[in-house]
Amino acid sequence: MPDMETIVSLCKRRGFVFQGSEIYGGIGGFWDYGPLGVELKNNIKRAWWKAMVQDRDDVVGIDAAIIMNPNVWVASGHVATFSDPLVECKNCHKRFREDQLTSTACPNCGNRNTMTEARQFNLLFKTHVGPVEDDAAVAYLRPETAQAMFVNYENVRESMRKKIPFGIAQIGRSFRNEIITGNFIFRDREFEQMEMEFFLKPGTEDEWHDRWRDERLAWWKKTFNISDNNIRVKVIRREATTIIGPDPDDVKEEKPPHYSKGNYDLEYRFPMGWSEIEGIASRTDYDLSSHMKLSGKDLSYFDDETKQKYIPYVVEPAMGVDRAVLVALFENYCEEQVKNEKRVVLRLPKALAPFKAAVLPLARNRPEIVEIAKKITAELKPHMMAMYDDTAAIGKLYRRQDEIGTPFCITVDHQTALPSDEKYDGKVTIRDRDSMEQIRVPVDQVKDVLLSRLVE
Ligand code: GAP
Repeated sequence: MPDMETIVSLCKRRGFVFQGSEIYGGIGGFWDYGPLGVELKNNIKRAWWKAMVQDRDDVVGIDAAIIMNPNVWVASGHVATFSDPLVECKNCHKRFREDQLTSTACPNCGNRNTMTEARQFNLLFKTHVGPVEDDAAVAYLRPETAQAMFVNYENVRESMRKKIPFGIAQIGRSFRNEIITGNFIFRDREFEQMEMEFFLKPGTEDEWHDRWRDERLAWWKKTFNISDNNIRVKVIRREATTIIGPDPDDVKEEKPPHYSKGNYDLEYRFPMGWSEIEGIASRTDYDLSSHMKLSGKDLSYFDDETKQKYIPYVVEPAMGVDRAVLVALFENYCEEQVKNEKRVVLRLPKALAPFKAAVLPLARNRPEIVEIAKKITAELKPHMMAMYDDTAAIGKLYRRQDEIGTPFCITVDHQTALPSDEKYDGKVTIRDRDSMEQIRVPVDQVKDVLLSRLVE
């Protein structure tokens, strides 16, 4: 597996991720996705939405406002308890999360026993709504997308005539004023989440919790091509924390979050160690009950068949898109030797690749070749992300496309375009990223050949 520096450098060099506001020196915990990053991210989101909403009968989607009535965050417990223990070194004045310190020495200046007493630091980003900046106007940028599903539960159930069990899914930005950010896009202050709240009958939550654990694990493995060695489940219960999968002894005791009776955290083997990519929480009726109390609205469910009335329980698979981008890059980055030269190739599953095809003219000074290459690009564009590139020699163009994970390169040469060439055949070369195998295909068949090969 590559180290973090290799991936950060690839991301900047090739236009996946840039430091936020870089020309002003950046701003900690905020990142900008470049032309390739936005494609990769969109492809990840599309894969999740397809699996979680489009392919299912029992889940529907929403897209809610980021700023919600501040009472939402009182009911959810975030105003009172969404905090981390903050300490400051009295010598260098750097701030840290107490629970992440591993010794009594300051990680910045090295002095011993210089930390202040811990105080709880609330991670909610505050803002003001309207023209007056007083306490009555305070609002928060959402720290999770989940609460919108709880406050819209009744609207969605009624308008879509849904019966329990069913789920509500959403993709969107979340904001946390993290004390320490780091590991590139792993821990940010602004990030994107994909969350689904699955409403179910009390008593069936353990069964659904296990089902969603298995579904989500299978989704990660298939979507990112993750080997069994690099992903595992951390089981966090009040009594104990255990591991299903590799390195079972590499685990720290943890407690489930304040809203959860138990969590399955999916973890990926990053260079900095096993780290969470998705949490699957058994949230009971914690949220709906709290919202019922504070809003005074009845959010209970009446089951027509059993004539029972109850407050639904919830199982929630919640993942971060930015962490998924990292997984896609780490898991699929390869360096290999080809004819005594290093080849860097991003073996992304085809559905995730930012560009599916690159059309490359062998000679950019031959108008006949350029014209055919541009025509093929135009034919491909309505069907897939395709680019034309003539800015270097062919070897270099192939290497660039390998490094950004483009599954197919189409080369237009003299044989394709010049009837005077003794080997003229009107065909192009299609080169496969992974095998580097090349086939000759008639110009008018390129689109169909690619479309059939893009289906995995
Ligand atoms: N609604 C439940 C919830 O928000 P969480 O474990 O705090 O649970 C879910 O967050 C996922 O969101 C995490 O597994 C992670 O992938 C992502 N995430 C959380 N905080 C993040 C941060 N500061 N930066 C990037 N991703 C983050």
